[in-house]
Amino acid sequence: MPIVEKSVEATYEKMRTMLINVVPSVELRYKSELVFEINRLKAERQAVILGHNYMEPALYHSVTDYVGDSLELSRVAARTDAPTIVFCGVRFMAETAKILSPQKNVLLPSLDAGCSLAAGITAEDVRQLKALFPGAPVVTYVNTYADVKAESDACCTSSNAAEVIKSFDTKVVIFLPDEYLARNVARQLDRPIFFPVRGSEGLRAPDVEIRDAIIGWRVKCEVHEKYTVDDVQRVRRQFPDTVVLAHPECSPAVVASSDYSGSTSAMIRYVRESEAPHYLLLTECSMGDNIAAENPKKEMLRLCSVRCPHMNEITLEQTLASLRDNRHSIEVAPDVGQRARRAIERMLEVQ
Ligand code: 13P
Ligand code: SF4
Repeated sequence: MPIVEKSVEATYEKMRTMLINVVPSVELRYKSELVFEINRLKAERQAVILGHNYMEPALYHSVTDYVGDSLELSRVAARTDAPTIVFCGVRFMAETAKILSPQKNVLLPSLDAGCSLAAGITAEDVRQLKALFPGAPVVTYVNTYADVKAESDACCTSSNAAEVIKSFDTKVVIFLPDEYLARNVARQLDRPIFFPVRGSEGLRAPDVEIRDAIIGWRVKCEVHEKYTVDDVQRVRRQFPDTVVLAHPECSPAVVASSDYSGSTSAMIRYVRESEAPHYLLLTECSMGDNIAAENPKKEMLRLCSVRCPHMNEITLEQTLASLRDNRHSIEVAPDVGQRARRAIERMLEVQ
């Protein structure tokens, strides 16, 4: 919940109580002024701030009205009454909010907040895949842009990918674009996975019989692909009582060597509900700080070195400028938005 106090000093004191273990007090002193001003402007503009779980701790714990993973924030975006949504996350998330609430003013604090997965596939790629595998439904990870969603039958997030695939009664499903998520889900569903082959004449289907299978795409998250099984084994040797949690965008080998794998919110819940003293999170580093602030008796190993450059574009300074100057207002062409919306709504129908 946002920290709404009558003065900057009171804001600082509240932030200090909550965040002193993870943010130095000199930084909190500076950030309390930004937080105070953001929360004042937010009320004036009747805006809500949605914050993805990867936001830095001062932003995450002090100005957001809702926090969550991609699926939870999509659900909030679909139901909020506020005329303005400031999306503290990356562009595909703000776009999803705009598609679900086209009449609302959806602001993204930095246009540089992209995503390597979303950048790794185009609408034309999807059209070619549909031509190669006629009749196969296309399930698309929400980490894609609106024109790709518009070519898809359903979206999914890492929390409901398996359920969305199972909701199609077909032998072959095209699952885009994250190679590792596709491999992890294929393993969970016990289905083989194949990839189209790129030759000099474009894409072609692999020369094998494809039955009861998933067709994937070869793009990876630039953050999660960096984790290795060696990282996990080293930590297990040094700190044997550590619980290792991996996001499903990590490789199947990393996921198999961890104790738990789930969406960002699923990992947060896992730590909240478990009794272990030490945890290693194989995901964006800020999330470890956010969990540590909430669970002072549990230690997140500070061995994390992988930051998402896109999520890190979203700062308190940019969020304040976004509210003050009404920037950057997200637009989606109405015809693209309408087609993308069908795919997102199909995802929201699956529990
Ligand atoms: P979640 O849906 O688990 O929040 O993941 C979004 C994301 O971009 C992870 O890198
Ligand atoms: Fe995209 Fe990876 Fe960053 Fe998530 S962590 S927003 S998947 S680049």
